[in-house]
Amino acid sequence: MNVEKVRKGFADHFNGATGSVYASPGRVNLIGEHTDYNGGFVFPGAIDKGMVAEIKLNGTNKINAVALDLNETATFGLTEEEAPTRSWARYIFGVCREIIKRGGKIGGFDTAFSGDVPLGAGMSSSAALESTYAFALNDLFSLGVDKFELAKIGQATEHNYCGVNCGIMDQFASVFGKEGSLLLLDCRSLEYKYYPFNPIGYKLVLLDSVVKHELASSAYNKRRQSCETVAAAIRKNHPEVEFLRDATLDMLNEVKADVSEEDYKRAEYVIEEVQRVMDVCAALEKGDYETVGDRMYGTHHGMSKLYEVSCEELDFLNEIAKKTGVTGSRVMGGGFGGCTINLVKEELYDNFVKEAFSAYTEKFGHAPKLYDVVISDGARKLS
Ligand code: GLA
Repeated sequence: MNVEKVRKGFADHFNGATGSVYASPGRVNLIGEHTDYNGGFVFPGAIDKGMVAEIKLNGTNKINAVALDLNETATFGLTEEEAPTRSWARYIFGVCREIIKRGGKIGGFDTAFSGDVPLGAGMSSSAALESTYAFALNDLFSLGVDKFELAKIGQATEHNYCGVNCGIMDQFASVFGKEGSLLLLDCRSLEYKYYPFNPIGYKLVLLDSVVKHELASSAYNKRRQSCETVAAAIRKNHPEVEFLRDATLDMLNEVKADVSEEDYKRAEYVIEEVQRVMDVCAALEKGDYETVGDRMYGTHHGMSKLYEVSCEELDFLNEIAKKTGVTGSRVMGGGFGGCTINLVKEELYDNFVKEAFSAYTEKFGHAPKLYDVVISDGARKLS
């Protein structure tokens, strides 16, 4: 992560001052996509890429912020009326507001930040930013907020200041991540368990399509709405169904005539995905990576054909993975662009990467990007 860049940038913008430095990571997700806001399970891990911020309290009620990667600055206050317009500044502002709404007493600060988690690649750069500031302000103002609440502050920032009705997965992974372990999280109860992840003989790699589709956040919110509509329809017959996580395909079929064809497909995907996460857990305990991979392909198929959050580029990368014998491959994160996550046998890795780069470049006129996944720690103070 860009610690030196942040230190230099902070000093340059704030007359040679030094503050405290904090970092939070982006995340990968092995399986369990669009299950979080359906009360289901997810299986993410924090990565070695994320956001770094230097912060120094300034004794005023103003925040002076510098986005070093964009070379932009923003100054804003802490009341609702003083909301900044730049989208990156709204994340910081949102975190402050959500802390204040919870009774936290905070004041102004000077800050500069930079990130190496690619924007729009489905690795949760925004959660990394929210967690960095939530963690830092909690520390700097001695607020005593626990880690669960820090994750919820990030999520509420997305809901209330950024227009995305996301689940809790990204912020949770960014706060709770642990080196070498994935996290199995029950998004209803927030119970979680670390799973040491070291698939001997395999590599976990991301292939970034480097495409980001417009309107991703409204399409995301629409998916969530569909899920809630179907859950409400099922609940009429089965009051115990709080979320789609509680529903079965039989229950879904009982309401087939009452919901739109589109909503039906969305719910079908989610119900199947909840089961796939369970299958992957059982398979991992046995070291059965073939089943893990099979379910990853299942997720891709569902996200592409039923949930309809894939795109031509991601489907193409998934096809290449299949053709070159990759064990598991699927679109990762919210969709509408970004990365595929691939579980590849070591001996097939070089050929897969070579084929993917040449075929993708030939078809789309630009290369994908490759990232090896290194599972790392969550939000922390660096100095
Ligand atoms: C985005 C959201 C998460 C989750 C994923 C899809 O990353 O922020 O809450 O819903 O999409 O699994």
